Amino acid sequence: MSRFGGAIAGLVLALMVSGSATRVIGQPAKGLAHPGKATYDQYCATCHGDTGQADGPGAANLPIKPPPFTDGRLMNPLPDDFLFKVISEGAAAVGLAPQMPAFRPPLTDRQIQDVIGYVRTFAQPPYPARPAVAVQPRAPAPKQPIEFSHIVHAGSYRIDCQYCHAGARRSTFAGLPSVERCMGCHKIVAAQGNPEIQKLHEHWNQKQSIPWVRIHKVPNYVYFPHKRHVAAGLACQTCHGPVETMQRVAQIAPLSMGWCIECHARRQASLDCVMCHH
Ligand code: HEC
Ligand code: HEC
Ligand code: HEC
Ligand code: HEC
Ligand code: HEC
Ligand code: HEC
Repeated sequence: MSRFGGAIAGLVLALMVSGSATRVIGQPAKGLAHPGKATYDQYCATCHGDTGQADGPGAANLPIKPPPFTDGRLMNPLPDDFLFKVISEGAAAVGLAPQMPAFRPPLTDRQIQDVIGYVRTFAQPPYPARPAVAVQPRAPAPKQPIEFSHIVHAGSYRIDCQYCHAGARRSTFAGLPSVERCMGCHKIVAAQGNPEIQKLHEHWNQKQSIPWVRIHKVPNYVYFPHKRHVAAGLACQTCHGPVETMQRVAQIAPLSMGWCIECHARRQASLDCVMCHH
């Protein structure tokens, strides 16, 4: 009886796995190979290793080693659409090293989704599957002179926002990090083999700042001091959205007078005209 019961359960799971659009990814069905395993073993294990530990033979001579998929702290903050982009378009599409090629083709979208689910199973601590945060940008995010990723820096590696935007706490402008601040890590981190980081090294060698494209801007007749808002305990994400999940930063909030006033009224901050219009 129990043998049959198991077989039926297995069949039902097989049907769910092959037939349902909303199946749970990241969880191998009991008694069955994960639907992404065959693809992984064929296309990925050569570099990423059979168990995701970046110890495949193809990784031995790479200038930049693949990250260990076993490290949940590093992998779990990476959203599915980021992994999808990396696998379908190649790692260079997000500014990572071009030695990781594009896989669409040969893989279909479905195979890529399955392989993402399989990669998630390696993570320790386990991947806490959660719905993607939907944010609606005001305008498409501009392309920046270097393909710098907040997902990699603020999401995966959890570098504090204010380590790079050091003015936020003490002045009007949050500010952008100097080339020197970037080089504090990148003299060593990924120093060889990534063209985006080579661009950073060229700016450093030529003592030139990076011409980042400005995204958020209130008109000149408006005064917006970051420090007062940070001191009031507002998280960056209140106004900028979940930046640590954005490959390229886009403006989320309207930055209109109505938007400022609405929050000021709600939080009993001043509504005095001259406060915002000196
Ligand atoms: C030729 C070797 C190679 C193969 C084959 C390869 N990768 Fe990679 N992969 C890399 C390298 C190298 C990186 C790291 C790039 C970097 O950090 O700049 C990487 C990065 C990644 C990342 C990004 C992880 C992160 O922390 O941002 C994912 C996801 C990934 N690979 C998945 C896959 C999958 C899935 C396959 C198979 C379909 C695959 N890779 C095949 C070499 C490879
Ligand atoms: C505290 C350390 C640290 C600082 C500061 C830092 N990075 Fe990184 N950066 C990393 C790490 C770690 C990676 C991941 C390396 C890898 O997987 O190849 C990375 C990856 C990258 C990449 C490839 C992935 C991507 O698209 O982001 C680029 C490009 C990059 N950094 C540029 C910069 C620039 C420009 C700055 C300054 C604005 C900067 N980094 C500051 C640690 C740092
Ligand atoms: C390693 C450095 C680094 C870290 C950490 C970092 N940023 Fe950034 N940030 C940058 C760089 C470089 C730019 C300019 C390029 C771009 O837009 O991606 C930027 C741009 C921005 C912008 C857009 C600025 C504009 O022109 O309007 C916002 C908003 C922002 N970051 C918020 C954050 C928040 C919030 C965090 C933490 C969750 C964070 N950043 C963490 C380096 C960093
Ligand atoms: C109360 C809303 C609010 C909060 C909270 C907030 N910002 Fe901003 N941010 C803005 C507005 C409005 C602008 C445009 C300001 C301007 O044009 O002078 C802006 C602009 C920026 C810019 C580009 C211009 C500059 O100031 O350098 C960066 C970078 C930035 N914010 C990062 C951050 C970071 C990091 C945090 C958290 C430490 C943060 N912001 C918190 C509203 C906010
Ligand atoms: C999410 C809530 C929120 C938003 C959005 C917001 N503010 Fe504020 N703002 C505050 C709070 C809270 C304070 C009060 C801080 C205090 O009392 O110390 C404040 C204080 C200020 C101050 C007082 C500074 C001083 O020196 O007294 C100015 C100026 C200001 N905001 C301008 C703006 C402008 C301009 C915008 C829109 C572009 C804006 N704020 C959007 C919450 C917000
Ligand atoms: C909390 C900050 C804040 C306060 C308080 C505030 N404003 Fe504004 N005001 C703004 C911002 C931000 C803009 C820019 C809006 C935009 O570009 O959509 C603006 C724009 C304006 C404009 C130009 C509108 C246009 O369409 O060009 C006028 C006029 C104005 N404000 C008048 C006032 C008056 C009068 C008061 C007092 C009753 C006041 N504001 C209080 C933030 C504020």
